[in-house]
Amino acid sequence: MSLPSPIPTETSFFRDPDFFSALREHVLPQLLRRRRLDKKLTIWCAACSNGQEAYSLAILLQEYFPSLTSGWQLNLLATDISPAAIARARNGEYSDAEIQRRLPQPLKSRYFSRHGSHWKIEPELRLLVEFNELDLRDGWSNLPRSIDLILMRNVLIYYDLVTRELILDRVLNALKPDGYLFLGATETAFNLDGTFQAVHLGKAIGYQVRSQF
Ligand SMILES: C[S@@+](CC[C@H](N)C(=O)[O-])C[C@H]1O[C@@H](n2cnc3c(N)ncnc32)[C@H](O)[C@@H]1O
Repeated sequence: MSLPSPIPTETSFFRDPDFFSALREHVLPQLLRRRRLDKKLTIWCAACSNGQEAYSLAILLQEYFPSLTSGWQLNLLATDISPAAIARARNGEYSDAEIQRRLPQPLKSRYFSRHGSHWKIEPELRLLVEFNELDLRDGWSNLPRSIDLILMRNVLIYYDLVTRELILDRVLNALKPDGYLFLGATETAFNLDGTFQAVHLGKAIGYQVRSQF
């Protein structure tokens, strides 16, 4: 299967602040309430590029929902098709320019330390995320079957309608009935075929599986 070329790996920490506000103010409080008995939460950051998106999420969890990172069974997976991106994400080292883009100074001091000319993510945060290579068009057999939150931001836009439908069909099977899917801010115009329902969360839009009843 040929890749759309070139595939941009453009990303940054806390890309699209409205999306992170929606997670902090709406999605995570709701999921934590609903999962408070079994204390299990599975989050998948699909197409995570060099790791900034997944680490932003880990920082958000640590800052605002610290109980999640201690008393809960938190499964935070991050995947990308690019072996180079996954290697960088696992290494967790970022340049000054990458760190300065949208990462507030207090978070930088709390979660990164200087390593020569780069900044390295603190081991405690690094250990929260499991990074693996995965082509979204291949089988998803290695993924958990019921995921609470799927971030698939700024990747489907590079694929044709047939491929997007194939991938979204699999999301349908992987997402819990009350879980959330997020696409990139410019991807909200995709026709999700009536299978998903758009949910307005502050200034961001998330998707939930449309109820059959
Ligand atoms: C523009 S970046 C978006 C990164 C991040 N999600 C964000 O929004 O900042 C697109 C990413 O999608 C990845 N990608 C492209 N095709 C993919 C596929 N078929 N399966 C998994 N990842 C893919 C690229 O390697 C790249 O890292």
